[in-house]
Amino acid sequence: MNMEDKFAEDIRKGLSASQKSIPYQYFYNERGSWLFQQIMQLPEYYLPGCERSILESNEAALLDFFQAGNQEFNLIDLGAGDASKTKTLLAAYEQRDVPFTYTPVDLSTSILSALSESLNAAYPNLNFEALNKDYWEAMEYLQHKTIKGQRKVVLFLGANIGNFTQEESRAFLQQLKSYLAPGDLIMIGFDLRKRPEIIYKAYLDSKGITAAFNLNLLHRINQELGGNFKPNYFRFYPYYNPLTGALMSNLVSLKKQSVRIEALDMDFQFEQWEAIHTEISKKHTLAEIETLAKDAGYKVKEHFLDAKNYFVDSLFEL
Ligand code: AVJ
Repeated sequence: MNMEDKFAEDIRKGLSASQKSIPYQYFYNERGSWLFQQIMQLPEYYLPGCERSILESNEAALLDFFQAGNQEFNLIDLGAGDASKTKTLLAAYEQRDVPFTYTPVDLSTSILSALSESLNAAYPNLNFEALNKDYWEAMEYLQHKTIKGQRKVVLFLGANIGNFTQEESRAFLQQLKSYLAPGDLIMIGFDLRKRPEIIYKAYLDSKGITAAFNLNLLHRINQELGGNFKPNYFRFYPYYNPLTGALMSNLVSLKKQSVRIEALDMDFQFEQWEAIHTEISKKHTLAEIETLAKDAGYKVKEHFLDAKNYFVDSLFEL
């Protein structure tokens, strides 16, 4: 199935279900990726700042793990984006002449070409190969061209894992195993439980950027599938459940309305106050992370936390 058909099919499924939803993967078109960059600049959105401080203060300790003595390694950055956090590691390792390869992986062509340009400019000696592929295509590709003796260090940063359910996280880690060798590492950024108001405000931001990011899904359906959503008839409503650690993002229909999607030749009915679920942003406990690693067959090497204990980069070894 090509990408447009997949989008149409996923939207048909999501909006036909008794509880409506739109898969979070569709946030990241051109405008959505731009809006996400804006989110990362928001003072309320504490995640990137925490993760940057973790990487900055632990670059040397991380390097010891990555090199495990004197080994060369390939730093594989899944969903690299603009790599703003990974760059703190690249800068430190380049300065010390560490032999390693950097492999940023991202689905967005424009983001990846911007990244390549900025890497060439800022780190002229960096050995890197940017892969415009999905995660599994990239891992498959790397399996065939991996240099002997080079260990893989997979980065899955930015709390991207928070979009997965528990089962999806385990499945993701298990699938990753089939591309790794014993001794290879994976470092995952998890957002942690904290005062609920802080979490809630990171999504219900004062400038409404996160609301625009969610409503962009409706614009995208209008543009690419010939929908006639009126985005101002929907309102973004996130809520946080401290029992489960799930921040749930939703779009609520402000009135009873009918939306036509030409590409599907279908009309969808919305009751007043009916919601479309868009995203889960899971907040973890360290115990949950330990269990996840164990269930998926990894050893936890270390948890690197920021000073406020808001965020953790956990290092797992196969
Ligand atoms: C990219 C999945 C980590 O869930 O916090 C930000 C996406 N959504 N604001 C998150 C997002 C709304 C983000 N992740």
